[in-house]
Amino acid sequence: MGKKITEKVTWVGKIDWELRRFHGDELSTDRGTSYNAYLIRDQKTVLLDTVWGPYQREFLEGLKQEVDVKSIDAIVIHHGESDHTGSLPLLMEEIPDTPIYCTANGVKSLKGLYHKDWNFVPVKTGDVLDLGGSALTFVEARMLHWPDTMFSYLSGEEILFSTDGFGQHYASEMLYNDLVDQGELYREAMKYYANILTPFNKMVVGKIKEVLGMNLPLKLIAPSHGILWRDNPAQIVERYLEWAQDYGENQIAILYDTMWEGTRQLAESIARGVQSQDPEVTVKLYNLSKTDKNDVLLEVFRSKGILVGSPTVNRGITHATAGILEMMEGLSFKGKKAGAFSSYGWSGEGAGLIQERLKKAGMDIPVEFVRSSWNPGEEGAVQGQEFGKAFAQSFHE
Ligand code: FEO
Repeated sequence: MGKKITEKVTWVGKIDWELRRFHGDELSTDRGTSYNAYLIRDQKTVLLDTVWGPYQREFLEGLKQEVDVKSIDAIVIHHGESDHTGSLPLLMEEIPDTPIYCTANGVKSLKGLYHKDWNFVPVKTGDVLDLGGSALTFVEARMLHWPDTMFSYLSGEEILFSTDGFGQHYASEMLYNDLVDQGELYREAMKYYANILTPFNKMVVGKIKEVLGMNLPLKLIAPSHGILWRDNPAQIVERYLEWAQDYGENQIAILYDTMWEGTRQLAESIARGVQSQDPEVTVKLYNLSKTDKNDVLLEVFRSKGILVGSPTVNRGITHATAGILEMMEGLSFKGKKAGAFSSYGWSGEGAGLIQERLKKAGMDIPVEFVRSSWNPGEEGAVQGQEFGKAFAQSFHE
């Protein structure tokens, strides 16, 4: 069922309360998500995006309750990814000649995904679709977060349709930001940014400045996931500008895996050392085998310093440690300091391997790794504390 936003605009998306994994298993979505699609009814009728394929029949039935689909004059696809376009094939069976407005890269992604030669109309920044009364202006938003992405701005209604930008994987029936728990909302918005948009920080800043430079009046930001920003929509823009500039709070995250508790004991010694050196800094410890990887990455995003430890196993590190290091490298965090630690029984390569991976991920290493053979014991605990102290001190030099 649709939800009326303004006289001309209706939300026709799908709230997915069940979703717990997204992008295969790459992203946890503990609070579900929504796939936001919108219907604009002016002199012309335009559909903005669709919903993920498993909900295509439900989507089409809901759309038909709102409008005779044969009266849809145009479809706008802001971004080709399947969560927003999965219902297109079924819809296009009924209206095969309807023009689809998207970027040139959008044509590529849609053709690549669906292998259909639909009536594509490639658009660029500044192109306008006149709806009679209102008009949609397109703004390419390359790499936010795909090369095909664009935003659109609806004049008259003063709505920015921002695709994945400003979105959250956050299922809610409440639709608007002022109607939901602010702690939940911002945690999901930040988790979304940290896990998806971090590699594109420079583009985020550039695009926001470009859009702000247009001096467009703005009543609403309508992303493709989660709630819509109607109460002071500038608040999420300001937060994005903050997050996009090598964000880090006064926090050090200690990430470790452990087989027989030695690396855990070392991690806890390091935490004591950090705290004794700097009682103001927030210290958090996460066992990588027992903590959701995307929640860990959110904490990496929030931290100015990250310490990573693993036992040495088969001359390497544990799979949970290797996995998080791979994801950290892919997300290209900037402006963070890091360090490595390990407890080991025999060959002891773990700490050195982690340190190399952290360097490769672009992190500064102010203190050489620490490692302890067998269980740390008193001597290892002192080494861990000294390492923690030196790492905390490095932020004040
Ligand atoms: Fe929500 Fe990039 O798709």
